[in-house]
Amino acid sequence: MLGMKIKKGITRKGRLLGLGTIGVLLIGGGLLANKPESAAAEKGPQAKYDVEVAPKWTDAGELMLPGNFREDWVFIGSPITPDGLNGGHANFPEFHNVYVQREAFIKYRKTNKWPEGTMMLKELQRTSPGDGPNGSKTEPSGTGYFPGGPNGVDISVKDSTKFPKSKNWGFFNFGHHKPPYAASAKEQPLAKCAGCHIANAPEDMVYVDFYKPILDPLPAPTNTDAGNDK
Ligand code: HEC
Repeated sequence: MLGMKIKKGITRKGRLLGLGTIGVLLIGGGLLANKPESAAAEKGPQAKYDVEVAPKWTDAGELMLPGNFREDWVFIGSPITPDGLNGGHANFPEFHNVYVQREAFIKYRKTNKWPEGTMMLKELQRTSPGDGPNGSKTEPSGTGYFPGGPNGVDISVKDSTKFPKSKNWGFFNFGHHKPPYAASAKEQPLAKCAGCHIANAPEDMVYVDFYKPILDPLPAPTNTDAGNDK
């Protein structure tokens, strides 16, 4: 992204002000590139991503765990497959809390396409122990499943350059246990993750039907007189 901005700047201003400007801009770009937060970005082919909060890769090619997803990303849904409804043992008995970068969320709503660099982050969250039928629990709100501790992170990344063999998405597991999670993760083999998404996900490798209810904007309020009791 940074690369793209600098390049655009050079083309536009270079034409107007001549070659001297290019030198200055290049030095400026070099200084910017030395900032610690953009170091990883400059190393990889970051410019190809269509999101500012882009995937970051270690030198060994592992995906780095994004920080602050709970604060900065959009929470789009939470499928749940508890043990009690899966013969006592589900592969993922937790709530599957799914987050996506805010910019990818906004772009999807406009275009129906996930931009390059989209990350679907699924954080597993255990249900709090219950002793009712199917492991359910009863709270003042009713009988059901209630959130317990976080218990793992899985991520899928859209990058058509890196993952052409698995329909443009790579899959990563940062541990299936309580935090702290691994700082980086290597791509999972096709049979472990991508295969099932290729076979079953309804649209572009994402089980998008579970998130559409949140991806769809709320209807505009019909009461234009909000706050007026009359
Ligand atoms: C047997 C099929 C299957 C396998 C194998 C599988 N997934 Fe999924 N995955 C699903 C389904 C179904 C959903 C949506 C519903 C849910 O979360 O329960 C999902 C959801 C996800 C999501 C949230 C975004 C989305 O596409 O809905 C991520 C991220 C994800 N999986 C990553 C992984 C990773 C990483 C692996 C391998 C470690 C993996 N998956 C293996 C079936 C699978």
